[in-house]
Amino acid sequence: MPNYKDLLNAERIPRHVAIIMDGNGRWAKERGMSRSLGHQQGVETVHKITEAASQLGIKYLTLYAFSTENWNRPTEEVEALMSLILTSLEESLYMKNNVRLRIIGDTARLPETVRKSIERCVDHTAKNTGLVQIIALSYSSKWEITNAVQQICRRVEKGELRPADVTEDDIEAALSTNFMPDPDLLIRTGGEQRLSNYLLWQCAYSEFYFCDTYWPDFDEEEFYKAIYDFQQRERRYGKTSEQVSKA
Ligand code: FPP
Repeated sequence: MPNYKDLLNAERIPRHVAIIMDGNGRWAKERGMSRSLGHQQGVETVHKITEAASQLGIKYLTLYAFSTENWNRPTEEVEALMSLILTSLEESLYMKNNVRLRIIGDTARLPETVRKSIERCVDHTAKNTGLVQIIALSYSSKWEITNAVQQICRRVEKGELRPADVTEDDIEAALSTNFMPDPDLLIRTGGEQRLSNYLLWQCAYSEFYFCDTYWPDFDEEEFYKAIYDFQQRERRYGKTSEQVSKA
């Protein structure tokens, strides 16, 4: 594999990378291990990729750690994932890399210990000025969009807004992602090619990168390769190639 890091164009580093970290279960199964050990190994990759993203100057890294639908997994796996999240939010790593932690999702459903520990880490890292790492936890796009619609309906009910005046900006402001730009690049590891209820609105013009590597085996080199691939694409946002090259 070429050294993709050296091939990267420093002028075209994506501002926001979102990742669907898939394949932990299969990685573990192929090694005769429990699925939870696959998730545990996945946390090592989270640390590696966060550090690499931070060093490249990426501003936002959004990681899909637990979807609304994941609540339906076997109880022992849900419990293992919750305790893993509890133990893996290492504040020292965030501080060392100047990384700020933010969370999106229905955190009211999380066990209190997890919620408290997350709140502490979010507060302690709030002044960090480097990469913003966003963990999507108990998150799904349909949950988020439903919430946004409810908020807007309440504004209409109060007479603050007329239905015909609702804009894309109003919808964006009501989403839990209202503090971040849309992802430039979405990476999904583990071989599947779908969005799985992740950032549906926000990925309207994101570039997608799918790879077969299971998340625990995904490393810095593969990450640089995904970014290199992104840099070869022409983002037209509905315009023609000629219009884009003239701009
Ligand atoms: C998908 O793999 C992965 C998850 C549902 C969990 C991902 C969570 C982590 C890596 C821990 C995150 C922790 C922090 C602190 C961000 P899968 O279980 O669906 O794999 P499979 O498709 O092979 O079964």
